[in-house]
Amino acid sequence: LSDNPSLSFQHIRLNNLIFYPYIVRETVLNLHKYEIRPDDVFLVTYPKAGTFWLAEIVYNIAKPKPPNEQVSRTETIPLLEFYSLDTLELYPSPRYFKTHLPYEMIGHNSQHRGKYIYLARNPRDVAVSYFHFLRSGVEFGWDGTWEEFFGYFIQGNVPFGSYFDHVLPWWNHRNDENVLFIKYEDMKKDLINNVNLIAEFLNFNLSREEAECVAQKSSFKAMKANPETNMDQWSESFKPGSSFMRKGIVGDWVNYFSEEQIEQFNQWYASYIEGTGLEFEWFS
Ligand code: A3P
Repeated sequence: LSDNPSLSFQHIRLNNLIFYPYIVRETVLNLHKYEIRPDDVFLVTYPKAGTFWLAEIVYNIAKPKPPNEQVSRTETIPLLEFYSLDTLELYPSPRYFKTHLPYEMIGHNSQHRGKYIYLARNPRDVAVSYFHFLRSGVEFGWDGTWEEFFGYFIQGNVPFGSYFDHVLPWWNHRNDENVLFIKYEDMKKDLINNVNLIAEFLNFNLSREEAECVAQKSSFKAMKANPETNMDQWSESFKPGSSFMRKGIVGDWVNYFSEEQIEQFNQWYASYIEGTGLEFEWFS
């Protein structure tokens, strides 16, 4: 673990990127050599963009098989970088993975195999959600302020690196035939439409009733009430009073950003986004 005094939360530094303290180093370091199966599906997100939401939708569409009966619902779609490559080999095809690893680390470039669903969320809400997540995770040992976190976020000094280094390579590949690029804000506006997009991309043909049922099961309310999806199973990993299913809304950033931070954010944002064609909605 790094003892860099400028970053007060616990993290691991590998290849110039910082990671959560509990990733499996060998997986991250060797993934580029790992053979992706043609029917592997990767659910790719920057942290706090709605990873578990997307996974719940895919779970309800595809009903993936766990490698054995001890494997919990959320582990049936494992977070790639938290497992050894040997363990991932035990998963039956077709495999579905969650991952926060950046574009160049997950082998997409070299093999053109598998399918990739990239879920993006506006970076203001991501920052606020990330701030709460790092504060609430016991293993991060962090109790910093929003002002402190805002600085880390803009500098890309957070686990999985800079927001734009993550989202832009996938945005640039959004029209590849094995890539589906979707946005959290669009899912909030019209979940059924996005369920259908995801199902079609994965070659599932859902009836209207089936699509409605998937959307219903993966609504914020349903996931928060469901012990298999609300992450209460991880309660020892979180400080008392915090919840993985926090608010699940678009626009919570207004409660955190000062005028000065909005100005600073806008400059940072413009320096990356101009000319890319990528746009976000900031309010619901
Ligand atoms: P907030 O902290 O803004 O509430 P990840 O899974 O990538 O860690 O993302 C977590 C964020 O997604 C949290 O955001 C969480 O509340 C939100 N989320 C989880 N399930 C959701 C759902 N069904 N609908 C909307 N947002 C959801």
